[in-house]
Amino acid sequence: MKRKRFSATMFSLCFCVLLTAQNINIIPQPKMVEMKEGYFTLTEKTLICFNDQQLKFLADYTSDNIRLLNKLELHVNSLTGDKKIARSINLILDNKLSIAEEGYVLSVFPKEILVQAKTSQGLFYGVQTLLQLIPVNGDRKVPSLLINDEPRFVWRGLMLDVSRHFFTIDEVKRLIDEMVVYKFNILHLHLTDDQGWRIEIKKLPELTRKGAWRVPRMGLWWDRECPKEGEEATYGGFYTQEEIKDLVRYAMQRHVNILPEIDVPGHSLAAIASYSYLSSSGLPYKVNPGCKFYGHDDNSLCAGKESTFEFLNTVFTEVAELFPFEYIHIGGDECFKGFWEKCKDCRKRMKDNGLKDANELQSYFIRRLEKMLLDKGKKLIGWDEILEGGLAPNATVMSWRGINGGIAAAKANHHVVMSPNNYAYLDLYQGDPAIEPPTYGMLRLNKVYSFEPVPEGVDPSYILGGQGNLWAESVPTFRQAEYMYWPRAFALAEVLWSPKESKDWNGFINRTEANLQRLSYEDINYSRSFYDAVITPLKDEKGHLLIQLSTEIEGLDLFYSFDNTYPDHHSLLYKNGQKLMIPKDADTFRVVTYKEGKPAGRMITVPLTDLAKRVK
Ligand code: ACM
Repeated sequence: MKRKRFSATMFSLCFCVLLTAQNINIIPQPKMVEMKEGYFTLTEKTLICFNDQQLKFLADYTSDNIRLLNKLELHVNSLTGDKKIARSINLILDNKLSIAEEGYVLSVFPKEILVQAKTSQGLFYGVQTLLQLIPVNGDRKVPSLLINDEPRFVWRGLMLDVSRHFFTIDEVKRLIDEMVVYKFNILHLHLTDDQGWRIEIKKLPELTRKGAWRVPRMGLWWDRECPKEGEEATYGGFYTQEEIKDLVRYAMQRHVNILPEIDVPGHSLAAIASYSYLSSSGLPYKVNPGCKFYGHDDNSLCAGKESTFEFLNTVFTEVAELFPFEYIHIGGDECFKGFWEKCKDCRKRMKDNGLKDANELQSYFIRRLEKMLLDKGKKLIGWDEILEGGLAPNATVMSWRGINGGIAAAKANHHVVMSPNNYAYLDLYQGDPAIEPPTYGMLRLNKVYSFEPVPEGVDPSYILGGQGNLWAESVPTFRQAEYMYWPRAFALAEVLWSPKESKDWNGFINRTEANLQRLSYEDINYSRSFYDAVITPLKDEKGHLLIQLSTEIEGLDLFYSFDNTYPDHHSLLYKNGQKLMIPKDADTFRVVTYKEGKPAGRMITVPLTDLAKRVK
């Protein structure tokens, strides 16, 4: 008898765990989840009801997404008063609720689904969670539960560099659709750089007539041939102001603020190619196609001439009118100041304003921009170089060269967005360079997941949040952009939304696997690099090459070969911690991972001479 009761308890415990594992794969992990008994079953008769006219878009959005995920056509219905309808999905806006601005409560009962929030943004996130609970395999059961959720940070951003490669408005909209599922709320568009100017400025038509186009090139960035005399510039594109307005509307409906970046005073060759008076040298240049030019060509706006500030005033007047977000990003990074030092206007500006060096001149430049933006009702945000020579009084800093710029800014009582290159640069490799498209550096999924935006000793109220940046030098297509974002942006979503204490790498990987199936279902590209082997070449004290292997995730077996055969589950099995010695005259190393007896990661093939070069 006793034994029997024990098994019954065990059974219900297991059932509970199974239910959680099978059905609850929400990214980012909500603050509080309580599983309940039973299911709500979606049927053709389920209505999507809403209690406030401003929720009509959200009700339609919910219906559209359920159709996409589950091929079920649900009707929407406006409620009168607070009357809810049984067997429906009820979206209830209630400004008296005592929850966070972006928070929501999602209750799934066997007879009703209730999403409640104080704001339509909160309800939007409640709906995102609900959509993640709806199976994509045709099953129509949503598990009963209670979720109480709110974000850790207000700034949950992704950046797309549309200058180095051009992405269409439809592609940018697609990115918005993809990012909101994971509760990102800021899309930073890097609209200008040396390789292309992408936004129509009505009073400065050359910016898009000339600055948006470059000669077509492929191959490795910086190894490409510079434009030849008379060669036609055919690669590029730009967004008209009408397209921008449409994009902004689309983003706002989905609670995404678009942060426009006009990168100055450096990174400005596309503007200078359009209007040569903008640089200190005044020399004619072409838009750069990815050939080496840095420090040779004059890609910085002149900080001495008033005409530069008149140009910027025209640009920022039009930009400020187009984008409702309170911030404008002015870049400020990697400004080459070599031409400033030789420029008589810059030298005069320095003398007249008591500026002791080029850093102080840059600081003068940024302070003037800040005033210009404040006059237009906007706040200035810039890369952490804007700290050099003194920070403008109200500037927000986007810390990219690690977190130190962010720490310095927060300690000086400035707001900070953390996007350190060593945790949040999504253009870096995410797997072994031998099999990934060529880029630089390394940022694996597990490193992104370990990101902590609030450094020790810093007042957290100055850290607005964080952002993942996708620089697009090596991202020529939107499919490749998706490959670089997902699943690393899952990890960022969780870092920026979920409570710090809820971090759980193995749980995250389970939820990632389930969400990647959803991406496959929606034909969204992503990387499976986290299933691959991690190769660490070493040298012993005699200088002989050794190879150590590991994996990012648990539960993978590693099979390898040195004999120019493709390893499989019959090959040599790597034992944890082993340092593999190189057999005499071997020239190539191969490794593949298996999970539960089935191939999991990709085969990595790498010449031993290349591995030897990787040893630091
Ligand atoms: C940067 O990566 N230059 C901001």
